[in-house]
Amino acid sequence: MKFTKKDFLWGGATAANQFEGEYNKDGKSLNVAEMIPYTPLEDRASMPMNLASFTRANIEKSIENKAGLHYPKRFGSNHYNRYKEDIDLLVEAGMDIYRMSISWGRIFPNGDEDQPNAKGLEFYHNLFNYCKSKGIKVMTTMHHFDTPYPIGKKYGGWMNKQVIDMFVKYAKTLFTEFGDVVDYWLPFNEINISSFAPMMSATFPEDHPGVSYDQLRFQTLHNQFIAQAKVVALGHEMLGKKNFGCMVANMTSYPIDCNPVNVIEWQKQQQIARYFFFDMVAKGEYPTYMLKLFEKLNVKIDTNDQEMAILKNNPVDFLSFSYYMTGTVSKAEIEKANGNLMGMGKNPFLKANEWGWQIDGQGLRFTLNDLWDRYHLPLFIAENGVGHDEKLNDQKTVEDDYRIDYMKEHFVAIQDALDDGVNVFGYTMWGVIDLVSAGTNEMSKRYGLVYVDYDDYHKGTGDRFKKKSFTWFKKFKESGEI
Ligand code: BG6
Repeated sequence: MKFTKKDFLWGGATAANQFEGEYNKDGKSLNVAEMIPYTPLEDRASMPMNLASFTRANIEKSIENKAGLHYPKRFGSNHYNRYKEDIDLLVEAGMDIYRMSISWGRIFPNGDEDQPNAKGLEFYHNLFNYCKSKGIKVMTTMHHFDTPYPIGKKYGGWMNKQVIDMFVKYAKTLFTEFGDVVDYWLPFNEINISSFAPMMSATFPEDHPGVSYDQLRFQTLHNQFIAQAKVVALGHEMLGKKNFGCMVANMTSYPIDCNPVNVIEWQKQQQIARYFFFDMVAKGEYPTYMLKLFEKLNVKIDTNDQEMAILKNNPVDFLSFSYYMTGTVSKAEIEKANGNLMGMGKNPFLKANEWGWQIDGQGLRFTLNDLWDRYHLPLFIAENGVGHDEKLNDQKTVEDDYRIDYMKEHFVAIQDALDDGVNVFGYTMWGVIDLVSAGTNEMSKRYGLVYVDYDDYHKGTGDRFKKKSFTWFKKFKESGEI
């Protein structure tokens, strides 16, 4: 099959905390992701993020690191020093766009400084200028699971409305410095993760005694929604371009069968796990099903008319999302599949990778149609890909035919969605050059078209090697043949 859309943006995606390394260079502060040690996993199939261990006291132990533990995200894939080589590889593969994230802690290490950190700005100026010199577009995420830890410690994280102002100040600096070189902006990566794990953005229950966990997670999320709307307003005003998107971890599911009780259960799951987040950023108000849920959970969102007007008046210009898998939903207990955020049920029609993530190209076509019909905003697939445990062979490559199959299946789905009439304008493959896994904190879960020679303990040369999928992608870009 031939891919027909000529101006479609194909590219790769990374995130600072998983890719850059140099966690304390040039004035950067730590973020929570960099304070979680590597733990060899006995049981690869289990959901690795043990949220109960995410206390601030626990996290803080990493600063002294008396136990001499390894913290993988402090080292990433050393993109900080090898960014030119990495961008050259993306360009060689024929990519049109690089989605990356700026580390807030490089720009405002404590969040509350009056002036940004010049060294941090310099790094991103160099990186963006290099991208421009190579003719590759840039999509920038402003917050990819990396609120500076000092903001958590001093201000109690995102429960504190002052953090909204700090984020807006950070955004203003980015627009001033990089407004002319960044093509697309995403204020938050997977904004919905806050409603599962507010600790990931340095908001810890122990700093808010007497506040229920439900209140904590939904207030954190609310404050991030307001921050995003304010940033969109500011960006439109300062830059005059309609290039602001949301980023939501998309969790498409299917009812386990056509039994109406299961269909109702599925509908509720899709509202709460999926539509809620897109509704908030596209329509700018809480859907009634969420207001009912808040009543049930005794959650009272701290807000006011002014905030709600900001939300209503500043929807995003396009919707971006990550898409890795689908699951099933049933009223009765069913066997769970694994996933990045929330366990959904297994689907007997789908295969899964070694981590139990179910592979579903058709689900991407379904998702694109569903979101387009519902919101009528342009769509961008900000993350997609498949993790595998891989080793270099004697020819210094990886024969990753399974990744080629995965790409084919998902690229066909995009073409099908385009033929259905969906307005989708780009795709960035997750972890296009191997990086540290967000969920399992390991190097072994590799997504890249390019292999990076580091193991789970950051041992290795860090050298980059093209996998078979790199060559396939390059040919696809040249010929359009899927
Ligand atoms: C998304 C995140 O949830 O999924 C990425 O935005 C993450 O940061 C990706 O790496 C894949 O998840 P994992 O846990 O396999 O790295």
